[in-house]
Amino acid sequence: MHSQFETLLVEIDGAVAVVTIQRPKALNALNQQVLTELHKLIGELRSSDSVRAVVLTGSGEKAFVAGADIAAMVAMQPAEALRFAELGHQVMDGLASLPQPVIAAVNGFALGGGLELAMACDILLASETARFGQPEVNIGVMPGFGGSQRLARRVPFGQAAEILLSGENITAAEALRIGLVNRLYPPAELLGEAKKLAHKIASRAPLAVAKTKQSLHNTWQGTLADGNAQERRLFSELFATADQKEGMSAFLLKRPPGYLGK
Ligand code: CAA
Repeated sequence: MHSQFETLLVEIDGAVAVVTIQRPKALNALNQQVLTELHKLIGELRSSDSVRAVVLTGSGEKAFVAGADIAAMVAMQPAEALRFAELGHQVMDGLASLPQPVIAAVNGFALGGGLELAMACDILLASETARFGQPEVNIGVMPGFGGSQRLARRVPFGQAAEILLSGENITAAEALRIGLVNRLYPPAELLGEAKKLAHKIASRAPLAVAKTKQSLHNTWQGTLADGNAQERRLFSELFATADQKEGMSAFLLKRPPGYLGK
């Protein structure tokens, strides 16, 4: 990663990039600057050979991200709101289409654009004190960064409908119960556990992980038949890689694999 950011802290820990959104005074709310910096960072991550998994979290004890920035949106007219939503969607789609898996370490409030950001990640882990919600209907709008689409794909339709239409927040325990998050941890353990999982994923064959992620995300697009056809194509393409030969040979020879990402 070569850029310096004002609202993002990027720490490289071996093959894992840990990205922290840093606007604690506004509970890490997503304004134009945060979104623009995230967009730039995602471009750099996409072309990185060394980063093989990403952890995304928020600074401070209270919030992952408390939403899109309401102060920045209050006076927007429709055309400006559309541009803002387009930038938000570019960031969310950019994360979802990164070759590297992204783990959201949800350390507090994940509301509105914050929950949308977490749901653009592949895996959500959370602290026991986290809170989740799409409170847009409380302030006269609706989700603008993909929440009305991604939430209904992540949890049962009725659960998504209640969260989106009531505007009520849910607890971490409820988020676990409905399958929005994979696991809960005491706040002090969350980041360490997210990094541990990221390192595990980063140790796997990178091209295989990237194509698996691409195939997994296809479950959200098109028909089952389209998705299965693409899975067959991606699966067969991996048989042109050195890592496939290495991984399978190592298994058969009962030795650890040495992956080159080739
Ligand atoms: N945008 C801008 N500023 C925000 C913010 C947001 N989404 N969320 C919190 N802040 C600011 C507050 O204005 C406050 O600033 P000041 O200290 O300058 O007054 C500071 O962060 C701390 O927040 P609170 O004093 O409100 O803290 P609290 O503990 O009393 O409440 C909270 C915490 C429940 C998260 C509350 O801040 C809250 O409800 N925030 C708004 C949540 C929200 O509605 N999010 C959705 C935004 S719309 C959206 O995201 C649309 C989209 O999809 C694109």
